[in-house]
Amino acid sequence: MRKGALSAAVFAASGVMALAACGSSSSSSSPSATAGGGGTSAGGTTSATSSAAGASGTVDGKGAKVGIILPDRTTSNRWISTDPDALAARCKADNLDCDIQNANNSATTMATQADTMMNNGVKVLMLVNLDSASAAKIEQKAKSKGIITIDYDRLTLGGDASLYVSFDNVKVGELQGQTLVQCPQVKGKSSVNYVELNGAPTDNNATLFAQGYNSVLSKQPGWKKLADQSIANWDNTQAGITFTSMYQKNPDIQAVMVANDGMAGPVIADLAKQKKAGAVAVSGQDATVEGLQRIMQGTQCFTIYKPSVGEANPAVDAAAKFATGQLPTTTATVTDTETGRKVPAILATPIAITQANVALPINDGYTPKATTCANTFAELCTKFGVK
Ligand code: GAL
Repeated sequence: MRKGALSAAVFAASGVMALAACGSSSSSSSPSATAGGGGTSAGGTTSATSSAAGASGTVDGKGAKVGIILPDRTTSNRWISTDPDALAARCKADNLDCDIQNANNSATTMATQADTMMNNGVKVLMLVNLDSASAAKIEQKAKSKGIITIDYDRLTLGGDASLYVSFDNVKVGELQGQTLVQCPQVKGKSSVNYVELNGAPTDNNATLFAQGYNSVLSKQPGWKKLADQSIANWDNTQAGITFTSMYQKNPDIQAVMVANDGMAGPVIADLAKQKKAGAVAVSGQDATVEGLQRIMQGTQCFTIYKPSVGEANPAVDAAAKFATGQLPTTTATVTDTETGRKVPAILATPIAITQANVALPINDGYTPKATTCANTFAELCTKFGVK
């Protein structure tokens, strides 16, 4: 995108004076990822981080107040510790006074938390929306008060965010599809029956993930989709219930395209009841403790690793820049499909994790070794190269 577009959008929204033109023009293409089952390099993540932060890394936010609201504590471990920890660390490094809250899956709570933050004088508000409509209202209110908003991880359709920071979510879905067809249970088979359990229909990411994996799976010779269900709120238990009924109707399922590790858990528990855990290819996302344990055990084929710092660092750096009247450098633009608005974005590159590189998220310190490698998993962790 052109730098001018960001500057106009941001400063029209905020009323803040631009102090300096920022950097050279950014490209409109998203960072490229190397697809494949065996894992990819983390280069894109690093480049997204450095492009936002500049060569020196951190940005001095001069003690400005920033509000950050995460969505829930039940759909994925990332919202419980990984993202809040990474965000808090970068806030500290960037000299920002960040208030990090979790809406506990309630849009009403999120609106109240946002009101409190706005009343407390935040200069920037960062949201992971629970649904676009409720977050768009918060962003409108912020705009009317001259507060800049950033969409973190999920794009708010119909919203007013000055910036979107996420992973390349279509790429996440493509990696999921490409890695699923390479799983040992299905690799090279001329006919494969599969089902899909998609994320929340209110989460734009779920739409993008499905766009990615469907673009791969629908073209796979001999692959036949028997069922396709979105799961409201990414509800893990509901995913299990839905899979059980799919399985009862179609006991001949060879692959399950599940959108994240949280939902993969109950699916694999159900397969275990049928004595089929490990015999069916199951996907995931988020490199959770349980997801990596299942990969080591062979009951889950893979997960997608999205290092939190790949999002947290550029997002917090951008907040520090906005709060001090500067413009962050962006690496892409995404289109709000509701309004057609072009939203400046920073998109990091996801990494597929199979048994071949299962140690990576643990050795990186993303997935905690103490829990992942506890008790009976100690031996497996050693076997798979956890340091
Ligand atoms: C998505 C996010 C995933 C996963 C999911 C459920 O928006 O990108 O990483 O966490 O929500 O929380």
